[in-house]
Amino acid sequence: MARQGVESIRRIDPEQRAERLKAAGYNVFGLASEDIYIDLLTDSGTSAMSDSQWAGLMRGDESYAGGRNFFRFEQTVRDIFGLPHVIHTHQGRVAENLLFSTLAPGDIVPNNTHFDTTRANVEVNGGTAVDLVIPEGRDPRAPHPFKGNMDLSRLESCLADNPGRVPVVFLTLTNNSGGGQPVSLENVRGTSEICRRYGVPLFIYSCRFAENAWFVREREAGQAGRPVADIVRDIFSLSDGCTMSAKKDGLANIGGFVALRNETWVERLKNKLILIEGFPTYGGLAGRDLEAVAIGLREVLNEEYLAFRVGQVTEFGEALAAAGVPVVEPIGGHAVYVDARAFAPHLPPAQYPAQALTIALYLEGGIRAVEIGGVMFGRPDPARPGVEILPDLDLVRLAVPRRVYTNSHLEYVADVLVRIHHRPETVRGIRIARQAPVLRHFTAAFELV
Ligand code: F0G
Repeated sequence: MARQGVESIRRIDPEQRAERLKAAGYNVFGLASEDIYIDLLTDSGTSAMSDSQWAGLMRGDESYAGGRNFFRFEQTVRDIFGLPHVIHTHQGRVAENLLFSTLAPGDIVPNNTHFDTTRANVEVNGGTAVDLVIPEGRDPRAPHPFKGNMDLSRLESCLADNPGRVPVVFLTLTNNSGGGQPVSLENVRGTSEICRRYGVPLFIYSCRFAENAWFVREREAGQAGRPVADIVRDIFSLSDGCTMSAKKDGLANIGGFVALRNETWVERLKNKLILIEGFPTYGGLAGRDLEAVAIGLREVLNEEYLAFRVGQVTEFGEALAAAGVPVVEPIGGHAVYVDARAFAPHLPPAQYPAQALTIALYLEGGIRAVEIGGVMFGRPDPARPGVEILPDLDLVRLAVPRRVYTNSHLEYVADVLVRIHHRPETVRGIRIARQAPVLRHFTAAFELV
């Protein structure tokens, strides 16, 4: 697959890195990308677009209303997901905002695991976000092929105990906050069956839908060798709608959408869209961006691409595991997740071991990763002033952008991590010096303990 825009990368020396990171309040979100050697902060919006996508940009129709790119985009979403109504947004969290602000004020929203922005959009609208992933999904080393699965008995109890209070159930494919782990087709079917019984719609957060379908093909009984596009169709035929950030498996640098069956919701969502994004045939994006997303959504289903993509991440993760680095296993689709509590057992969870290791990675090798742990999901304990309720896992996510890095780049990252792992006591704990009330991890400042 063709790549566009090969960039040179540079590695500044360790003293400069220490200086830059200190100036950024030890928060890697505050670093300039030029000061980073290998950037594994996210796989979102960081993919290299193909030659076809770049050509598509040249076919942008920038009419205010009724531009042709919208119709091509809409048809593509209908073809791939089988969902009739398509409302695009400029990225995934706007799709969440549209949905939760119009449907769910003050209610309970179950999910296998909410991603940070999803949880925040539920909570900002007065709702309660409940994570119901299977127990194996909370255990970094439990061997299970589909650790993103919904715990069906807990889902059933949640719906039985809260009649009329659950406006929608979500499944996130793959389960980003829990290790990029997939959900089986069988589990989507089970979830859908329970939702139907209780009359609650099922939505799929489909950011990494193609990677999830690839795992279904590779790991689920009866699915081997089936076309990925057919598996995708089967998964979404069980849903009432989906939300999407096209910055992941849309292979685009920007874009997102909501697609759904329920006609009566469409008008409400579109009215809100006009208020916050723009007219529904361009809302929040240029026509050319819609074209790039439409092309990317088809490209991502290419099975040679998926075999390389998921294979690259697996190889990277397995090299770390073989060297004794504690990673979430099996390896997920878009990223390798290091279990920071096991990596640096000298650090108590209250000193945010995953953020501490993220800092060490940058200082040691100029590598940017992201914390998915106590900083991202910790919250004040109402019963104990000054103490936080911390999540089950402290993970450092090494997210691999699509079609960007070679295996040699990832070997370098593995070497650096293994080097730190030989002397874990050099990873220093941190405390939070400053934080915002919502989504604090993006802007918080830290101090080394
Ligand atoms: N849901 C999931 C599962 C995600 O991974 C993301 C973004 C979103 C929703 C929000 O989408 O960024 O387009 O508004 N995840 C990125 C990440 C930021 O690094 O994992 P968005």
